[in-house]
Amino acid sequence: MTIQEIFELCIQTGIDNDPRGRQGIEKLLSKNKKEYSELTAKKKAEYDKDRLTNPYSDSAIHFGDPNKVIKRILIGIDIDSAEVLLAKELERMGKPIDLIVSHHPIGKALALLHEVMDIQTEVLVKAGMPENIAEGTLQERLAQVSRDVAPINHYQPIDTAKILNIPILNVHTPADNCVWHFVDQYIQDKKPQTVGEIIDCLKEIPEYNKAIKLQAGPVIFSGEEKSRAGKIVVSGMTGGTGGSEKVYERMSHYGIGTEIAMHIAEKSREEAAKHYINVVIAGHIASDSIGLNLIVDKLEKAGIEIIPCSGYIRHSREK
Ligand SMILES: [Fe+2]
Ligand SMILES: [Fe+2]
Repeated sequence: MTIQEIFELCIQTGIDNDPRGRQGIEKLLSKNKKEYSELTAKKKAEYDKDRLTNPYSDSAIHFGDPNKVIKRILIGIDIDSAEVLLAKELERMGKPIDLIVSHHPIGKALALLHEVMDIQTEVLVKAGMPENIAEGTLQERLAQVSRDVAPINHYQPIDTAKILNIPILNVHTPADNCVWHFVDQYIQDKKPQTVGEIIDCLKEIPEYNKAIKLQAGPVIFSGEEKSRAGKIVVSGMTGGTGGSEKVYERMSHYGIGTEIAMHIAEKSREEAAKHYINVVIAGHIASDSIGLNLIVDKLEKAGIEIIPCSGYIRHSREK
């Protein structure tokens, strides 16, 4: 597979598992196209044209010939210059790396992280929250995330990869959509009745099971083992990063009993507890690993060798 084909496979898998459905994605892309067509020539020159075909602004090919055929990938949850140097070192050890893949956004994909957060609205709407409220609670947070990532030296690992001439891309929301869909389906099938039962059934998923030994497995952040789960929403798995703490009061109004998330801020945990919303933290890196695994299984099937690094817990569902 070429770099372009690998990236395209990631995007399509992300769309297949997107809470907004393929229709929602088509709507988003046509909105972008309309926006672009109405811009002045000066603004058009500044516009990132990837937005016309790629619905995930937090995922991109950052460097490398898109037509290059890939045989071996170094893939990690976070890619920094250290991992780029690791790729170079692997070449010396007789394992040349054709492509580096990061899960967490780097480069422009990090600067545009806030643009995918609207997915969170859709997840909450699916759980019964009115659209205006789900959207309203998120709005201020979008601008805040955009400001939070602004000062980061977001291009650093890409600069290193360029100097060493190693292609690099990152795939964020497409993988997070996969873990959202996987855990959502899993919980719907298992029908846990208490918070303790949620923890127990999550621990049966291989990546979470491995994470227990790393002291990073599923834990309760709000509520107790015996607490009734009520309606469960897997709302903290996809959509960029953590949402607004204001959402918990509204969750309690619209019949949501328990949230399952990768991670939440302390302020959010306090709000959840105040409004009697149970919170199960499935584990950040283990959850990100599940999302990646569901994509990487397809890459391995296509004959690409995978070297996991930087926290990535590789588990194949094909073997
Ligand atoms: Fe993620
Ligand atoms: Fe993450």
